[in-house]
Amino acid sequence: MPDARLDAWRARIDAALAAVLPDPQTSPERLHAAMRHAVLLGGKRMRPLLVHATGALFDAEPALLDAPAVAVELVHAYSLVHDDLPSMDDDALRRGQPTVHVEFDEATAVLAGDALQTLAFETLASAPLPPAVAIRLVQALGAASGAAGMCGGQALDLAATGASTSLAIIQLERLHAMKTGALIRTAVRMGALVGGADESALARLDRFAAALGLAFQVRDDILDVESDSATLGKTAGKDAAQAKATFPALLGLEGSRARLDELAGEMHAALAAFGPHAQVLAQLGEFAVKRRS
Ligand code: IPE
Ligand code: IPE
Ligand code: MG
Ligand code: MG
Ligand code: MG
Repeated sequence: MPDARLDAWRARIDAALAAVLPDPQTSPERLHAAMRHAVLLGGKRMRPLLVHATGALFDAEPALLDAPAVAVELVHAYSLVHDDLPSMDDDALRRGQPTVHVEFDEATAVLAGDALQTLAFETLASAPLPPAVAIRLVQALGAASGAAGMCGGQALDLAATGASTSLAIIQLERLHAMKTGALIRTAVRMGALVGGADESALARLDRFAAALGLAFQVRDDILDVESDSATLGKTAGKDAAQAKATFPALLGLEGSRARLDELAGEMHAALAAFGPHAQVLAQLGEFAVKRRS
């Protein structure tokens, strides 16, 4: 049975996101509306749920986890707005809605992404946390979002597009670990830092999060092949059409599923020392491997 706290955290995350986003009735209305479109209309909230679930492992106050939870979701939402742009994946459907550049326009989508990213760091810096903790969170999220993390991974993704199968599997794992894994690892790290985790707990949780982050993108690649646009809320079958570097392209579906099984084992092993207290994190890990959308 799913942990009942997941629904409560989801509601908490949605309320905190709605509260931090600028008022759509104030100027510039169109930019504010685009930001709210990108963030509030759907999304599984995987990364902020990981912040809350990891913080809960250390009995952190939920009120102290709101800012990092919001911040990582804002960066994620911005990454999706830019990922969908015509100059990147050129996608028209996201979270069951028209993408921001389709609903608004391309310039507004660029600016909405920019403003979501800066709002994330403003939110973290304004968090009701000890300044030393807040600075570590800003550093972690900055590193995970930039050239050594998500943006770097997106650059590798674009460079490999069209020549996907010439990539070695180790290069594809690095690409996925950067474009998707880095933000997921940071979500877990931020929850642990707010909870006051020691170095050994941080290291074990990072092993869990690294496996989860890679598994999340392997599953995304599999769903792009196996599922349909209505279920996913985004265009299915686009990776093959654009010759994207994906796990199914390099390893096939069977090989991709086998890699997911290995990653599930790594997650399980990394959480073992935390005992039953880590059950909700284990559930999120299992979700990454088995999810259908
Ligand atoms: C989609 O992420 C992009 C990837 C990094 C795989 P999600 O599957 O978490 O998207 P939402 O937030 O639920 O829309
Ligand atoms: C996106 O990967 C990763 C990001 C950093 C946004 P994809 O391009 O596979 O994500 P989807 O399938 O469009 O959600
Ligand atoms: Mg992409
Ligand atoms: Mg995409
Ligand atoms: Mg995808």
